[in-house]
Amino acid sequence: MTTRLNVFVARATGMSRRAADDVIFEGRIRIGSEVVNEPGTQVEESDIVYFDGKRIRLPAEKTWLLMNKPAYFITTRKDESGRKTVMEILPKHLQRLFPVGRLDRDTEGVLLFTNDGETAHKLLHPSFEVERQYRALIDKPLSYNEMELIKRGVFIDGKKTAPIQIQHARDSRPIYELILTEGRYHEVKRIFAAVGREVLRLERTSHCGITAGNLKPGEWRLLTSYEIDSMKSRLVHYNDSDRRT
Ligand code: URA
Repeated sequence: MTTRLNVFVARATGMSRRAADDVIFEGRIRIGSEVVNEPGTQVEESDIVYFDGKRIRLPAEKTWLLMNKPAYFITTRKDESGRKTVMEILPKHLQRLFPVGRLDRDTEGVLLFTNDGETAHKLLHPSFEVERQYRALIDKPLSYNEMELIKRGVFIDGKKTAPIQIQHARDSRPIYELILTEGRYHEVKRIFAAVGREVLRLERTSHCGITAGNLKPGEWRLLTSYEIDSMKSRLVHYNDSDRRT
Protein backbone atom coordinates (compact mmCIF):
# COMPACT_ATOMS: atom_id res chain seq x y z
CA MET A 1 0.00 0.00 0.00
CA THR A 2 1.22 3.51 -0.74
CA THR A 3 0.47 6.78 1.08
CA ARG A 4 0.68 10.37 -0.21
CA LEU A 5 3.76 12.11 1.16
CA ASN A 6 1.85 14.95 2.86
CA VAL A 7 -0.48 12.44 4.56
CA PHE A 8 2.52 10.40 5.66
CA VAL A 9 4.31 13.46 7.11
CA ALA A 10 1.15 14.71 8.86
CA ARG A 11 0.41 11.33 10.45
CA ALA A 12 4.02 10.63 11.41
CA THR A 13 4.59 14.00 13.12
CA GLY A 14 1.14 15.04 14.34
CA MET A 15 1.27 18.27 12.27
CA SER A 16 -1.66 19.37 10.10
CA ARG A 17 -1.83 18.46 6.39
CA ARG A 18 -1.20 22.11 5.49
CA ALA A 19 1.88 22.31 7.75
CA ALA A 20 3.09 19.06 6.16
CA ASP A 21 2.73 20.64 2.69
CA ASP A 22 4.83 23.59 3.90
CA VAL A 23 7.72 21.49 5.22
CA ILE A 24 7.67 19.47 1.98
CA PHE A 25 7.83 22.65 -0.14
CA GLU A 26 10.64 23.94 2.10
CA GLY A 27 12.75 20.92 1.07
CA ARG A 28 12.90 19.49 4.62
CA ILE A 29 11.64 16.04 3.66
CA ARG A 30 13.75 13.30 2.11
CA ILE A 31 12.73 9.89 0.86
CA GLY A 32 15.91 7.87 1.12
CA SER A 33 18.66 10.20 -0.06
CA GLU A 34 16.40 12.34 -2.26
CA VAL A 35 14.74 15.62 -1.22
CA VAL A 36 11.11 15.48 -2.40
CA ASN A 37 9.16 18.73 -2.92
CA GLU A 38 5.91 17.27 -4.22
CA PRO A 39 3.22 16.57 -1.53
CA GLY A 40 1.43 14.10 -3.83
CA THR A 41 4.42 11.76 -4.14
CA GLN A 42 3.43 8.20 -3.25
CA VAL A 43 5.40 6.71 -0.35
CA GLU A 44 5.93 2.93 -0.54
CA GLU A 45 5.91 0.83 2.63
CA SER A 46 9.60 0.09 2.11
CA ASP A 47 10.52 3.82 1.79
CA ILE A 48 12.49 5.52 4.55
CA VAL A 49 11.34 9.10 5.14
CA TYR A 50 13.33 11.81 6.91
CA PHE A 51 12.21 15.18 8.32
CA ASP A 52 15.11 17.58 8.93
CA GLY A 53 17.45 14.59 8.71
CA LYS A 54 15.58 12.53 11.34
CA ARG A 55 13.69 9.40 10.38
CA ILE A 56 9.91 9.63 10.83
CA ARG A 57 7.50 6.69 10.89
CA LEU A 58 3.76 6.26 10.65
CA PRO A 59 2.20 5.87 14.09
CA ALA A 60 0.16 2.81 15.00
CA GLU A 61 -3.41 2.82 13.65
CA LYS A 62 -4.74 4.37 16.85
CA THR A 63 -3.42 7.75 17.93
CA TRP A 64 -2.00 8.29 21.42
CA LEU A 65 -0.86 11.61 22.71
CA LEU A 66 0.68 12.76 25.96
CA MET A 67 0.11 16.25 27.30
CA ASN A 68 1.86 17.83 30.24
CA LYS A 69 -1.35 19.40 31.49
CA PRO A 70 -0.93 22.91 32.84
CA ALA A 71 -2.85 24.06 35.92
CA TYR A 72 -6.09 26.00 35.41
CA PHE A 73 -7.27 24.05 32.37
CA ILE A 74 -10.16 21.67 32.91
CA THR A 75 -10.21 18.11 31.60
CA THR A 76 -13.33 18.07 29.51
CA ARG A 77 -14.15 18.39 25.85
CA LYS A 78 -16.32 21.47 26.36
CA ASP A 79 -17.03 23.68 29.36
CA GLU A 80 -20.48 25.27 29.57
CA SER A 81 -19.19 28.16 31.67
CA GLY A 82 -16.44 29.01 29.19
CA ARG A 83 -13.40 28.02 31.26
CA LYS A 84 -10.23 26.98 29.43
CA THR A 85 -10.18 23.29 28.51
CA VAL A 86 -7.30 20.94 27.74
CA MET A 87 -8.77 20.47 24.24
CA GLU A 88 -7.90 24.08 23.39
CA ILE A 89 -4.20 23.24 23.75
CA LEU A 90 -4.40 20.69 20.92
CA PRO A 91 -4.43 21.61 17.24
CA LYS A 92 -7.81 21.26 15.53
CA HIS A 93 -7.04 18.00 13.73
CA LEU A 94 -6.26 16.28 17.07
CA GLN A 95 -9.34 17.52 18.89
CA ARG A 96 -11.19 14.33 17.93
CA LEU A 97 -9.11 12.52 20.59
CA PHE A 98 -10.48 12.22 24.12
CA PRO A 99 -8.65 12.49 27.44
CA VAL A 100 -8.04 9.23 29.32
CA GLY A 101 -9.59 10.02 32.69
CA ARG A 102 -9.38 13.40 34.38
CA LEU A 103 -7.05 15.60 36.30
CA ASP A 104 -8.46 18.33 38.53
CA ARG A 105 -8.35 21.86 37.19
CA ASP A 106 -5.42 22.79 39.45
CA THR A 107 -3.48 19.52 38.84
CA GLU A 108 -0.57 19.45 36.40
CA GLY A 109 1.19 16.62 34.63
CA VAL A 110 0.71 13.51 32.54
CA LEU A 111 -2.60 13.38 30.71
CA LEU A 112 -3.06 10.85 27.91
CA PHE A 113 -5.38 11.33 24.94
CA THR A 114 -6.45 8.70 22.41
CA ASN A 115 -9.12 7.44 20.05
CA ASP A 116 -8.51 3.86 21.25
CA GLY A 117 -11.58 3.38 23.45
CA GLU A 118 -10.87 -0.21 24.40
CA THR A 119 -7.36 0.41 25.75
CA ALA A 120 -8.46 3.65 27.43
CA HIS A 121 -11.17 1.70 29.26
CA LYS A 122 -8.59 -0.78 30.54
CA LEU A 123 -6.29 2.03 31.68
CA LEU A 124 -9.09 3.44 33.80
CA HIS A 125 -10.64 0.22 35.11
CA PRO A 126 -9.54 -0.54 38.69
CA SER A 127 -9.25 -4.26 37.95
CA PHE A 128 -6.14 -3.60 35.83
CA GLU A 129 -4.45 -1.86 38.77
CA VAL A 130 -2.74 0.62 36.46
CA GLU A 131 -0.13 2.69 38.29
CA ARG A 132 -0.46 6.46 38.52
CA GLN A 133 2.36 8.33 40.19
CA TYR A 134 1.86 11.72 41.80
CA ARG A 135 4.00 14.33 43.49
CA ALA A 136 2.13 16.40 46.07
CA LEU A 137 3.13 19.43 48.10
CA ILE A 138 1.05 19.50 51.28
CA ASP A 139 0.60 22.05 54.04
CA LYS A 140 2.40 20.19 56.87
CA PRO A 141 4.74 17.17 57.04
CA LEU A 142 3.33 13.73 57.85
CA SER A 143 4.38 11.81 60.93
CA TYR A 144 5.70 8.25 60.63
CA ASN A 145 2.34 6.90 61.85
CA GLU A 146 0.39 8.95 59.31
CA MET A 147 2.62 7.63 56.50
CA GLU A 148 1.99 4.06 57.69
CA LEU A 149 -1.75 4.70 57.84
CA ILE A 150 -1.77 5.97 54.24
CA LYS A 151 0.30 2.98 53.07
CA ARG A 152 -2.24 0.54 54.52
CA GLY A 153 -5.16 2.47 53.00
CA VAL A 154 -7.55 5.13 54.29
CA PHE A 155 -11.35 5.34 54.03
CA ILE A 156 -12.80 7.46 51.25
CA ASP A 157 -16.60 7.50 51.02
CA GLY A 158 -16.71 4.51 53.36
CA LYS A 159 -14.43 2.38 51.15
CA LYS A 160 -10.81 1.66 51.98
CA THR A 161 -8.23 2.59 49.35
CA ALA A 162 -5.99 -0.15 47.96
CA PRO A 163 -2.49 -0.17 49.51
CA ILE A 164 -0.59 2.97 48.54
CA GLN A 165 3.13 3.47 48.09
CA ILE A 166 4.21 6.78 49.54
CA GLN A 167 7.58 8.33 50.26
CA HIS A 168 8.88 11.68 51.38
CA ALA A 169 10.49 13.23 48.31
CA ARG A 170 12.34 16.18 49.89
CA ASP A 171 13.61 16.49 53.44
CA SER A 172 13.20 20.21 53.63
CA ARG A 173 9.65 20.51 52.28
CA PRO A 174 6.46 18.46 52.75
CA ILE A 175 6.58 16.98 49.23
CA TYR A 176 5.46 13.35 48.87
CA GLU A 177 5.52 10.88 45.99
CA LEU A 178 2.66 8.41 45.79
CA ILE A 179 1.84 5.44 43.58
CA LEU A 180 -1.85 4.62 43.33
CA THR A 181 -3.62 1.90 41.40
CA GLU A 182 -7.31 2.83 41.62
CA GLY A 183 -8.02 6.25 40.10
CA ARG A 184 -10.86 7.46 42.32
CA TYR A 185 -12.29 10.99 42.12
CA HIS A 186 -10.01 13.57 43.86
CA GLU A 187 -8.14 10.57 45.21
CA VAL A 188 -4.87 12.18 46.26
CA LYS A 189 -6.54 15.19 47.87
CA ARG A 190 -8.94 12.95 49.77
CA ILE A 191 -6.15 10.61 50.93
CA PHE A 192 -4.33 13.56 52.48
CA ALA A 193 -7.57 15.04 53.80
CA ALA A 194 -8.14 11.72 55.64
CA VAL A 195 -5.08 12.54 57.77
CA GLY A 196 -5.93 16.23 58.10
CA ARG A 197 -3.70 17.64 55.36
CA GLU A 198 -4.35 19.94 52.44
CA VAL A 199 -2.73 19.47 49.03
CA LEU A 200 -1.24 22.78 47.88
CA ARG A 201 0.17 21.55 44.58
CA LEU A 202 -0.33 18.30 42.70
CA GLU A 203 1.40 16.85 39.67
CA ARG A 204 0.87 13.46 38.01
CA THR A 205 4.34 12.28 37.07
CA SER A 206 3.39 9.07 35.31
CA HIS A 207 0.41 7.06 34.06
CA CYS A 208 0.98 3.37 33.26
CA GLY A 209 4.72 4.01 33.03
CA ILE A 210 4.38 6.96 30.60
CA THR A 211 6.18 10.09 31.80
CA ALA A 212 6.27 13.63 30.44
CA GLY A 213 10.08 13.74 30.14
CA ASN A 214 11.17 17.17 28.94
CA LEU A 215 7.69 18.43 28.08
CA LYS A 216 6.85 21.69 29.82
CA PRO A 217 3.30 22.34 31.10
CA GLY A 218 1.11 23.03 28.07
CA GLU A 219 3.27 20.99 25.68
CA TRP A 220 2.30 17.68 24.08
CA ARG A 221 3.71 14.97 21.84
CA LEU A 222 2.55 11.77 20.16
CA LEU A 223 3.47 8.55 21.97
CA THR A 224 6.08 6.41 20.26
CA SER A 225 5.08 2.90 19.17
CA TYR A 226 7.52 1.63 21.84
CA GLU A 227 5.57 3.50 24.56
CA ILE A 228 2.23 2.24 23.23
CA ASP A 229 3.47 -1.37 23.16
CA SER A 230 4.94 -1.14 26.65
CA MET A 231 1.71 0.37 28.00
CA LYS A 232 -0.38 -2.38 26.39
CA SER A 233 1.94 -5.10 27.65
CA ARG A 234 1.20 -3.92 31.21
CA LEU A 235 -2.52 -4.16 30.51
CA VAL A 236 -2.59 -7.82 29.49
CA HIS A 237 -0.96 -8.82 32.76
CA TYR A 238 -4.25 -9.72 34.42
CA ASN A 239 -6.59 -12.20 32.80
CA ASP A 240 -10.26 -12.52 33.65
CA SER A 241 -9.73 -15.18 36.28
CA ASP A 242 -7.22 -13.31 38.40
CA ARG A 243 -8.62 -9.79 38.11
CA ARG A 244 -9.83 -8.04 41.22
CA THR A 245 -13.45 -7.00 40.70
N1 URA B 1 -6.16 13.00 42.73
C1 URA B 1 -6.62 14.24 42.95
O1 URA B 1 -6.99 14.59 44.07
N2 URA B 1 -6.66 15.10 41.90
C2 URA B 1 -6.23 14.77 40.66
O2 URA B 1 -6.27 15.61 39.77
C3 URA B 1 -5.76 13.49 40.45
C4 URA B 1 -5.73 12.60 41.49
